Amino acid sequence: MTTKLATVTLRNGSLVPGIAFGTGTKWFKRPAKDADQDAVSRELVDSIKRALHAGIRHLDTAEMYNTEEDVGLAIREFLAESGLKRSDLYITSKLFKGATDVRGTLTRALALLQLDYLDQYLLHAPFLEDIPDNTKTLGEIWAEIEAVHRDGLVRDIGVSNFGIPHFEALRQHATIFPLVNQIEFHPLLQQTDLAAYAKEHGVVLSSYGPLTPLTGSPDKVDATALNVALDAAAERAGKTRAQVLLRWNLQKGRVVVSTTANPDRLAPLVEVQSFELTEDEVKEIDAAGATLTYRKFWATKKFD
Ligand SMILES: NC(=O)c1ccc[n+]([C@@H]2O[C@H](COP(=O)([O-])OP(=O)(O)OC[C@H]3O[C@@H](n4cnc5c(N)ncnc54)[C@H](OP(=O)(O)O)[C@@H]3O)[C@@H](O)[C@H]2O)c1
Repeated sequence: MTTKLATVTLRNGSLVPGIAFGTGTKWFKRPAKDADQDAVSRELVDSIKRALHAGIRHLDTAEMYNTEEDVGLAIREFLAESGLKRSDLYITSKLFKGATDVRGTLTRALALLQLDYLDQYLLHAPFLEDIPDNTKTLGEIWAEIEAVHRDGLVRDIGVSNFGIPHFEALRQHATIFPLVNQIEFHPLLQQTDLAAYAKEHGVVLSSYGPLTPLTGSPDKVDATALNVALDAAAERAGKTRAQVLLRWNLQKGRVVVSTTANPDRLAPLVEVQSFELTEDEVKEIDAAGATLTYRKFWATKKFD
């Protein structure tokens, strides 16, 4: 069976591959803990390459993850092995602490990634109080992101972890309103108000942590009803619970950012583009998940 490549279209016409391979979470290198944080992880490079060879065309990295160099090496090796071109890939990165010097941070990212442009560049979070020595406002940082976009160094610009108040704070300062908001999104964190706001303003949502109902903290919420709905859809479609969760997200029109170190999980991830949940199945999952709220990432922060 040929696998369709799901894409999501941004307000500016850009086509974003609907499944991104993430290089944060389990691959995240913490400066204090990982003394060799600057060393390339061969396991990560090989996992990224396997994902690309399996058909994934979108990679997600960030200044904060310390994985930009690994992504760069994987891209270079994959392009040499596959004969594909840079333009066949869609590369997303994000900046946070480096927002004090957007152009300098982007220049370093591009050098580590061995690229001359990024497809997508995001402000990682609106929580500027966590950036040491920052004196800039959100509007000033965003103006610098717009400037590197105008110079052709980044094609699609956006944000991550923004709630409605963060968008409203930015609105009066933005010439280009963010095209994308990358947020935690799964049936236990549906954020319907934010989804409606994004739709109204033409912001595409990109979902990280899509498997959280499986991998999160099951003891913190009773997800029995959700699991019943997932299992019913999985059995009907002949897929796994994980595939149903990913597909549910894709059918909401989201770009889905997942990851795995397990080679056996790549084909099922790619296959998510080639089956459909019925409208009723989506609604059952919506309803079962909406009775609970569980946020795994940035959980101490205020989003609304
Ligand atoms: N913008 C932000 O603030 C932000 C925050 C968090 C994440 N992200 C991005 O999103 C990416 C993905 O986040 P995530 O890791 O939370 O995504 P996820 O898709 O929810 O979870 C991926 C994890 O699930 C495990 N997994 C995969 N298939 C499974 C299955 N069938 N059953 C049970 N476990 C399974 C994988 O482990 P195995 O390796 O064992 O398969 C992997 O560790 C990150 O790497 C990062 O790029 C962004």
